[in-house]
Amino acid sequence: MFKILTLNQISVNGLERFSREKYEIASEIRHPDAILVRSQRITPEELSPTLRGIARAGAGVNNIPVGECTKKGITVFNTPGANANAVKELVVTALLLSSRDILGGIDFVKQMTTQDPAEMHKVVEKQKKMYKGEELAGKTLGVIGLGAIGSSVAETALRMGMKVLGYDPGLSVEAAWKLSGEIQKMENLPSLVSKSDYVTLHLPALESTRYMINKDMLASFKKGCRLMNFSRAEIVEIEALVDALESGQLSRYATDFPHPSLLGRADTILIPHLGASTEEAEDNCAVMAANQIIDFLENGNIKNSVNFPNISLDRNGGHRIAISNQNIPKMLGKALAIIADRNINVSDMINKSRDDIAYNLIDLETPPPVDLKEALEGIEGVISVRYL
Ligand code: 3PG
Repeated sequence: MFKILTLNQISVNGLERFSREKYEIASEIRHPDAILVRSQRITPEELSPTLRGIARAGAGVNNIPVGECTKKGITVFNTPGANANAVKELVVTALLLSSRDILGGIDFVKQMTTQDPAEMHKVVEKQKKMYKGEELAGKTLGVIGLGAIGSSVAETALRMGMKVLGYDPGLSVEAAWKLSGEIQKMENLPSLVSKSDYVTLHLPALESTRYMINKDMLASFKKGCRLMNFSRAEIVEIEALVDALESGQLSRYATDFPHPSLLGRADTILIPHLGASTEEAEDNCAVMAANQIIDFLENGNIKNSVNFPNISLDRNGGHRIAISNQNIPKMLGKALAIIADRNINVSDMINKSRDDIAYNLIDLETPPPVDLKEALEGIEGVISVRYL
């Protein structure tokens, strides 16, 4: 029986993927084999020795101590693209709310008390000039980060008549091929922000992206630009942002990550991290996370991991061993020698590495003897061994 700990509310459609015969699932469980999580922070101390995998039902993994997990041989998964449409729709909402004072206008009507329709009409028509804005069509949108969400925002903006500039130094060749030729690729960030009426951020929170939007970068923005941050709070340096709003360098900041320094400002649109909070996105993320964890726990296969190599080996019955080890020479040879010493035939195998970690799936023709696991664990550099 595998034990699955759920942190945060995980969609029932995802939880239903786990058969009750093989899995015990609870929000409080000791010594789990795997964790399903959304944005709840997991500390290194919470990584139980039994833990094999963590699946983030969503994109960002900055709430998970990924480095510690790698050292302990814990595979961390996310669900790229599963909530991209939900986030894209909220970003488009933010672009529209930033271009006109729709929120101010709605607040104004909410505060009206007259019961006289004629009077209401008169006041509305007189006051509406206060809430005039501009159209998105014809304006330039700079998209920083062209992954699943950024590229989807860019495509929609093009269809709305915007000109789109894109910047993503880490763009894969595969992702680049899928992008519309109408997105003008920029060489660097300052040239993108200096030409954009609107800028939207679609980057993970990493050491390299922390405070990417800082005082110097904000100085390069086109005066009066509107900035959308639906990625992570840490990408924008808050003091520099407030200064840019005060000076008019930025005319609006719309974000899914409210900060106390931004409260009460008419030039901010603060949303309580609702990007992925739709029925569809919650279902998609939970189902994808559950499928990935099931295939990993039962077959050792890895898809969409952020710290282990992607790996898949068809199951043809038999007895499978999954070994994680440091990515150093001779590891596979040592493991195979130990297996051969016990006169066991290997029927199939695959080995892949990523950065400092290597991972092997080895199928045996006969059941592994009781001492094999201990012998494999005894190889210096082996992190974990599982029989599947
Ligand atoms: C993500 O990283 O996928 C989004 O920020 C959504 O986070 P959530 O699952 O906590 O809503």
